[in-house]
Amino acid sequence: MSHNYAPSNETIEEQYNENVMPIWKSLNVPVKRASDCVVEDFDGNEYLDVFSGISVTNVGHGNDAVVEAAKDQLDEFVHGCSYVHPSQPVAELAERIAEVTPGDLQKSFFCNSGTEAVEGGVKLARKHTGNTEVIALEMGFHGRTLGSLALTGNKAYKRGMAPTLNDTVHAPAPYRYRWTNEDLTEEEFAKRAAAEIEHVIGTHTSDDLAAIIVEPVMGEGGIIVPPKGWLARVQEIAHEHGALLIADEVQTGYGRTGTLFASEQFDVVPDILTQAKGIANGLPLGAFTASSEVADAFESGDHLSTFGGNPVTCAAALATIDELQDGILEATAANGEWLADQLTDVEADFDVVGETRGLGLMQGVELVDPSVEGPHGVSPAPDQKLASAVADHLEGQGIIMGVGGYHKNVLRFQPPLTITQDQLDRTLDALRTAITEVTADE
Ligand SMILES: Cc1ncc(COP(=O)(O)O)c(C=O)c1O
Repeated sequence: MSHNYAPSNETIEEQYNENVMPIWKSLNVPVKRASDCVVEDFDGNEYLDVFSGISVTNVGHGNDAVVEAAKDQLDEFVHGCSYVHPSQPVAELAERIAEVTPGDLQKSFFCNSGTEAVEGGVKLARKHTGNTEVIALEMGFHGRTLGSLALTGNKAYKRGMAPTLNDTVHAPAPYRYRWTNEDLTEEEFAKRAAAEIEHVIGTHTSDDLAAIIVEPVMGEGGIIVPPKGWLARVQEIAHEHGALLIADEVQTGYGRTGTLFASEQFDVVPDILTQAKGIANGLPLGAFTASSEVADAFESGDHLSTFGGNPVTCAAALATIDELQDGILEATAANGEWLADQLTDVEADFDVVGETRGLGLMQGVELVDPSVEGPHGVSPAPDQKLASAVADHLEGQGIIMGVGGYHKNVLRFQPPLTITQDQLDRTLDALRTAITEVTADE
């Protein structure tokens, strides 16, 4: 195709089909430009973005302050590799992360993505503890490179890709809706779910545990919020076995749940905290942060990334944190609570909505077939087809909605955190219309 062409949705799709590896089922809206919560395609259609490019553009697409910070740094210099040519943005961002992360988390390593942050975090846990084995959660997601893929607890991501990293085992996720129909208190369920992790350590490891890695709220697994007390108990279990707790906050970090990091809401200071996605509002940056005591296990030569510590992305991250702390965090907490209440009403009004749950502006709507029993007789069966049809219907109404979950039946509200209640209201109305019309067609 000539480069003198007028791009349209159709030409973009043709070029993708011709030259981009086919990793998608069907192409979503091709974006020409995006501003705050609205994206525009090449045919002039506008969409309200309720998914922020998989939970990334937390302070709004094209946030002025972030763009300006990146442009200013572009004018200075673009590449340093943080360890060959130390730069001010890296120094400042590391200092800032030490200030804004909980407890004694202090030293950061910068990389380019979430999966690198996770693998770097595991390397550090191994180096610090001298142990090798890692426990992750069933249905958890930690990335697509071979190390992180081993930690990811879902065969859908691994098909045809094995073998992955050795010495990884999975424990059950605290996914209450699909775990039991019993009427347990939150505390009882937290105990039971944590006890299962101890059971897995007892049965599947060899007294050589380096880390337990968990997402404080599981994103790709279906917006699974653990019961209170669970995360703290998981950390105790890790420590009892000479291991570290790695909180993978790639998705929950940078304001998504209404605090800068979700661990704060569970009163836990993880031993290693992984970050990416929202950290630089869309510029590629990842990081992992640990206390000095843990971080100092790394010696010269233990870890490196050529692009790691890019000054442009680090400058963007500093501006992102400023924006979050300038009222967006408070708004996220308030709007998240409001949205959760509205979704509870949706759950009450539609029997195909099995459960709604979430924290901050990370809310899930689990769609089910109420006439069919779910796996192990717990809750009604997941309805993947319905979720996909509802998301398509929403796109037809000009709304981009995420779909995820282990069973691919969970709608994911993860908008830019700058979204207004009016825009959320519009999304809720559209959701009600979509569910009504799609189920009427069945
Ligand atoms: C919790 C979590 N960890 C790690 C990753 C991997 O991040 P990336 O796609 O930037 O490699 C993701 C991506 O969705 C994630 O949600």
